[in-house]
Amino acid sequence: FQPERRNSEGLDLRHRPSFAALDNGRAAFRNAQWQAAPLTVAEAAPGDTEEVLNPANLGDVLGQITWASPEQARAAAAAAQPWQASPAERARILNAAADLYEANQAEIFAILHREAGKSLMDALAELREAVDFLRYYAARCQEGADSPLGTFACISPWNFPLAIFTGQLSAALAAGNAVLAKPAEQTPLIAHFATRLLHEAGVPLAALQLLPGAGDVGAVLTSCPDVDGVAFTGGTETAQIIHRSMARHLAPGAPFIAETGGLNAMIVDSTALPEQAVQAIIESAFQSAGQRCSALRCLYVQEDVAEGFLEMLKGAMQSLTVGDPWEAATDVGPVIDAEAQDGILDHVAQASREGRVLQQVSVPASGHFVPPTLIRIGGIEDLEREIFGPVLHVATYKARNLTRVIEAINGTGYGLTFGLMTRIDERVQQITESIEAGNIYVNRNQIGAIVGSQPFGGEGLSGTGPKAGGPLYLDRFRAHPAPDSTG
Ligand code: NAD
Ligand code: ALA
Repeated sequence: FQPERRNSEGLDLRHRPSFAALDNGRAAFRNAQWQAAPLTVAEAAPGDTEEVLNPANLGDVLGQITWASPEQARAAAAAAQPWQASPAERARILNAAADLYEANQAEIFAILHREAGKSLMDALAELREAVDFLRYYAARCQEGADSPLGTFACISPWNFPLAIFTGQLSAALAAGNAVLAKPAEQTPLIAHFATRLLHEAGVPLAALQLLPGAGDVGAVLTSCPDVDGVAFTGGTETAQIIHRSMARHLAPGAPFIAETGGLNAMIVDSTALPEQAVQAIIESAFQSAGQRCSALRCLYVQEDVAEGFLEMLKGAMQSLTVGDPWEAATDVGPVIDAEAQDGILDHVAQASREGRVLQQVSVPASGHFVPPTLIRIGGIEDLEREIFGPVLHVATYKARNLTRVIEAINGTGYGLTFGLMTRIDERVQQITESIEAGNIYVNRNQIGAIVGSQPFGGEGLSGTGPKAGGPLYLDRFRAHPAPDSTG
């Protein structure tokens, strides 16, 4: 039994009246300021206050954030109260929150553009996914045994600062837990805005506390015996640190749901339709400025067609518009901050010194922009780490070496997304059966997921599962009675 539920319809940006209404709505927030602070029942003093800057325009100060202090995080964990409402009431309130998210879309888009550098298309997709998570977990919380676990720390990344932030906490709340939400330090304003909407919809403060802060605040939560489980999305190394901390400080068997990074590959064989493949590659590698865990990092093109294909790809890259994410024409916005920009530019500079840069797109001179770049490599084993930005690596392969390519992709140890462009059905079957990846995409781009019908999550170094937006996810937030040891 699944109560009736529909995914959000979003907005068709090509429909002029809809776009004009959205654009007018956003205009009110072009220069708006937001203030954010911990939202907690704890009485401990907060930390420092800082300005929040727009990564596309460092002169644009969009608000102030007062950080949570480590003491405040500890006190919040001690004071947290699982959500006592019935499943039906929890579902009603989460659905009401989804309605509030949609009613506030213009302001949400403005914060996503100015704080997280999200383009209009990204912001739209992000709001839809957040709303879908709320309604999906609301529907599912009325199934199965109602057995909340206690208090969950929900630690989220900046690259989906609304959707993943909301997805984690709405699952934990739907299951009746208390949530300590620790958003990424780069995107506290959107997390604060969303949390206020959840409270306005009726989630009690003691059941949903917001603790904006850096990794030290997260570390307090993941080493606090008052915490019963952790939902984390972010880098693989951070997940490993958290896992070790939980093993030392939390109750044995405390659930740890980790969704982490990837070294995602795509194979384009000689039968693929070039125009379709190029479009899919451009979206997979450069949408969201490549700051998606799912983004394509390593493209394999069959040698026989590589020369002409790469010319097409380079040409398509030239048509990308890089700039202010507020502008509807922008395809690629900035990366999130100076640290990210420096790290990616170092990687590109190294490739450039080695004569491996095949294409680069120009970008605005100021702001945290990174040129969309195409870099030649020998194979995926040349990539030592996930480069989290608009950088695509390309290798060629001989048809007879396809098995070796698949072994190399599996050999990274990651397993998040994989893309395949081919018109041979048997090849689809052969490759998809041997690739170890959570989400496999055939003859389309390899980013994105659809709550309820295309759950998202990886394997190996890319995550623990269960997949977000899928039928098994909520169950990890519930208590499971120990099996009867008396036999
Ligand atoms: P990150 O690991 O640096 O930070 C993620 C969160 O963890 C932040 O809130 C951060 O403050 C917190 N944190 C940092 N150190 C901590 C510690 N010691 N203890 C507890 N919390 C700590 O990642 P990021 O840069 O915010 O996000 C980008 C990464 O996230 C990429 O690797 C990307 O692939 C991954 N990601 C994965 C998915 C997925 O679904 N698999 C989705 C989005 C992003
Ligand atoms: N669903 C997210 C993506 O598509 C994580 O990248």
